[in-house]
Amino acid sequence: MAKVKPLVFDYRGSLIPENGITDDQIQQLSPALESARNEILKTDVELFASQDNVPEEKQPLDAGFFEMPERILDEYQSNRPDSELGRILDTAARLRERVDKVVVLGIGGSYMGARALMETCCQPYFNELTRAERGGRPRMYFEGNNVDNDWSQGLLEFLKNHSQGDGPEGKWAIVVISKSGGTLQTAAAFRPFLAARETQVGTATLPDYVVPVTGESGKLESLADEIGCRDRFLVPDGVGGRFSVLSAVGLLPAAILGIDIVALLEGAASMNSQFRTQALGSNPVLDYVAVNHLLEKERGVVTRVLSVWSKSLESAGFWYDQLLAESLGKFERGALPLTCLNSRDLHSRAQQHQEGARDKVMNNVIVDHWRCDPLPIGSSQRNQDQLNELSDKTLPEIMSAAIAGTNQAYLDDNRPTTNLHFPAADETSLGQFFQMMMLATVLEGRLLQINPYGQPGVEKYKVNMNRILREPVAK
Ligand code: PA5
Repeated sequence: MAKVKPLVFDYRGSLIPENGITDDQIQQLSPALESARNEILKTDVELFASQDNVPEEKQPLDAGFFEMPERILDEYQSNRPDSELGRILDTAARLRERVDKVVVLGIGGSYMGARALMETCCQPYFNELTRAERGGRPRMYFEGNNVDNDWSQGLLEFLKNHSQGDGPEGKWAIVVISKSGGTLQTAAAFRPFLAARETQVGTATLPDYVVPVTGESGKLESLADEIGCRDRFLVPDGVGGRFSVLSAVGLLPAAILGIDIVALLEGAASMNSQFRTQALGSNPVLDYVAVNHLLEKERGVVTRVLSVWSKSLESAGFWYDQLLAESLGKFERGALPLTCLNSRDLHSRAQQHQEGARDKVMNNVIVDHWRCDPLPIGSSQRNQDQLNELSDKTLPEIMSAAIAGTNQAYLDDNRPTTNLHFPAADETSLGQFFQMMMLATVLEGRLLQINPYGQPGVEKYKVNMNRILREPVAK
C-alpha cells in the first residue's frame, strides 16, 4: 500500500473555559470509548459468523462497511481482472471510450458520496471542459434525487440537443443506483431517462448504455434483467445506503471520472488501521467522538457545524450531513449537522455562529495544500481598492488569515472549535474522511445506545407519499 499522508484532528480549540471541555473529561470518557471501539471491532466478526446473534435493538446491523476497503483491495491484489474493483475499472474504461456524458440517478446514500467524490477530486469546472481537456473522461450529471420537474427536463433537453454524431460526443449513458431498487425518486427518473436513451439508440443496444448498481434482488434488478444489462454491480448485503460510498455505489461513478479509486480505498484502509491501533489523543475517530459527544452532553452543544474551507469539500459536508442525521437523529436525540462553506458563509451564517445561541461547535475542515499554485492578488496601476499593499499576498494566505481570524473570534468569546486538516483535497484524504466519519458515527451511536443503522423515520413520509399518489383524484 502506498504511504498515506494522515488527516490530523486538532481539538485544542474546544479545551476552553466555560463553554468547552477539559482533558480530564476526555480521559474519563476513555473506558466508554474503548468499550464502544471493541464492540465495533467485534461486531464485524459476529456479523459474518452469524446474524442470529444480533440482539433486536441492534438490528439492522449493517457493519459491513468497516472492513470493506481492505476486502476490496485484497481481492484486487489477488484476482485483478475478475475482482470487483477490476470489473468496476473495466466498465468505467468502456464507458469512457463509448460516451461523453453519464447521468447518475440515485438519492441519499446512493448519490451524495459520488457527488462528493466528483467535487473533491475533479477539476472544479470539469463538466465545462472539452473532451480533450477532460482526458476523454465523460461529463457527469446527477439526477433522480429530487423529482424536480424542471431540472429533470432541463437535463433531458440538454442531452437531446448536445448529443450529436456517431462518436462518443454523441452518446450518453445512465448509471442507476438504488440499494433497495424501489426508491420512488430514482425509479421515477429512470423511466424518462431510459425512454430517452432507448429512442436514441434502439432497444438492441440499450444495454450498452445502462449500468445498474443495486441489491441482490428488487425491482431495479428485475428491470435490469428485462433490459438485458450486462454490466451491473452489487450493493452488498450488510452495507447500509449511507455507509456504501466505498462500494460500487461511489467507486463506479468515481472510476468513470478517472478518480484514483485505489488511492481512495487505501486512504480508508489507513483510517481503519489508525482506528484499530491508536490510543485516545492520537486517534482521529476516538478524538472526534470524544470532543463532540462531550460538548453535547456537558455543554448542550447540539449543532455540529462542519465548516469546510474549500469549495471542493462542500458536497463531502453534505454527505456527512446525511450520515449523521439519518444515523443518530432518533428517539428525540442526536446532534444537528450543518455544513457551511467558508469563507462564503462568513457573510451569511457567521453572525449567528458568533453571537447566537451557544449550542454549536465549529468543526473546521482545512485543506493544507491546494492543487494549484498560490494565486497572488498582484499589483495594479488602478489602486482605488487600495490592495497594492497586499499585492504579494495570495488567495491561500487570505484564506489562512480568514481561518485564523475566525477561530480567534470564536476563542475570544469562548466558543468551541476543532480543526480537521486534509493534507490535500484528493482521493487519499477523502477516503480517510469517509471512513473516519462512518466509524465516528457508529462509535457515537454505540455510546448513546442508538442504533446508527437503519432510518425508520424516513419511512413515514414514504407511506404518506405513496398513499397520496394512489388516492383517487376528485373530478
Ligand atoms: O442510508 C440509507 O440507507 C438511505 O439514505 C438510502 O441511501 C436512500 O434512501 C436511498 O435508498 P436506495 O439506495 O435504496 O434507493
